[in-house]
Amino acid sequence: MDNLKLKTVDVKKRPLRDLRISVTDKCNFRCNYCMPAEIFGPDFKFLPQERLLTFEEITRLVHLFVNLGVEKLRITGGEPLMRKDLAELIRKLSHIEGIKDIAMTTNASLLPKHAANLKKAGLHRVSVSLDSLDEERFRKINGRGYSVQSVLDGIEAALEVGLKVKVNMVVQKGMNQKDILPMASYFRERGIILRFIEFMDVGNTNGWKLENVVPSQEIIRQINQEAPLEVIGPNYYGEVATRYRYKDYDAEVGFISSVTQAFCSSCTRARLSAEGHLYTCLFASSGKDIQTPLRKGASDEELLELLHNTWNLRDDHYSEIRLKETPGFKRQKVEMSHIGG
Ligand code: GTP
Ligand code: 5AD
Ligand code: SF4
Ligand code: SF4
Repeated sequence: MDNLKLKTVDVKKRPLRDLRISVTDKCNFRCNYCMPAEIFGPDFKFLPQERLLTFEEITRLVHLFVNLGVEKLRITGGEPLMRKDLAELIRKLSHIEGIKDIAMTTNASLLPKHAANLKKAGLHRVSVSLDSLDEERFRKINGRGYSVQSVLDGIEAALEVGLKVKVNMVVQKGMNQKDILPMASYFRERGIILRFIEFMDVGNTNGWKLENVVPSQEIIRQINQEAPLEVIGPNYYGEVATRYRYKDYDAEVGFISSVTQAFCSSCTRARLSAEGHLYTCLFASSGKDIQTPLRKGASDEELLELLHNTWNLRDDHYSEIRLKETPGFKRQKVEMSHIGG
């Protein structure tokens, strides 16, 4: 197994370090850029319970992934807290030797109920999605009438039990540009790291247009006029966000610029969907089916080889070629709610 660990790099020599595990494709929100309500309506067919990997299956796979170099886990969805007894999975994963970090991406609405158990189970940190502090705009974006306060309560609950918190804001031109400065100031005052994310063309349903992307440089310029910023180095190799420090405050802010400054060359992330398909890019059309061999009784060695080979053959670099695709060509892409962010 040690031999494999040394060799698990892809075609572009990128190692495998992070595994993002989606535990459900359901969500209680209907964010317009992720699960537009017109498409994810009452008739939408979500995965049936028996198609979801069990906690035992996920735990077994993570043990194998550790042999291939994975050190970091992120639990995603849909909304991961829609999965029953999630803390039980976190507890199992936190006992796996070699896992140094367990984070979760969440809309925070269910955190008041679950934060304490998640922390006790071994979760380290959460990334909370919040796109506006304006009630009307936030209700419109989340598509289900959730209040800003319900998310702020979730953030508070996480902080209270000692979870580290980052906040993610997807910026869409014509939707929440007005919220950039109020969001920056609110989280700066509280010393919470906010990251601005450029609106991406994930999936085929969110009606993405390049003209609706607000480039990070434009956001940096706006914030810098109000509160001067200076760039700081990454925390680790391949960090997605470019980090800045406020010169006059003890606070940090980040920018995730997949559209204007692709970061594929250092991408060490694999994504496991809730039904056990392994995706090597957020913009892939399909994933490698791991569930079928797993349920047919494949041995650890066989599964390890499958995972290793899938990463070994990886050549993805979609964000680097997005703007060079032939006009009119419609690439089939998996939905964000199916593989997590
Ligand atoms: P930490 O640095 O460990 O806190 O994690 P992170 O920055 O990867 O955090 P998070 O998972 O919250 O990522 C934030 C957002 O960045 C995601 O929701 C995506 O929108 C975007 N993102 C993350 N990984 C990728 C990636 O591999 N490719 C692209 N294009 N976007 C990504
Ligand atoms: N563009 C950018 N970020 C997105 N997210 C979801 N869809 C998109 C998109 N189209 C982010 C959300 C959340 C995480 C799951 O991914 O803000 O933080
Ligand atoms: Fe749900 Fe997150 Fe997608 Fe919004 S972005 S619909 S909260 S999974
Ligand atoms: Fe990685 Fe694909 Fe994102 Fe590039 S576009 S950073 S290869 S997930």
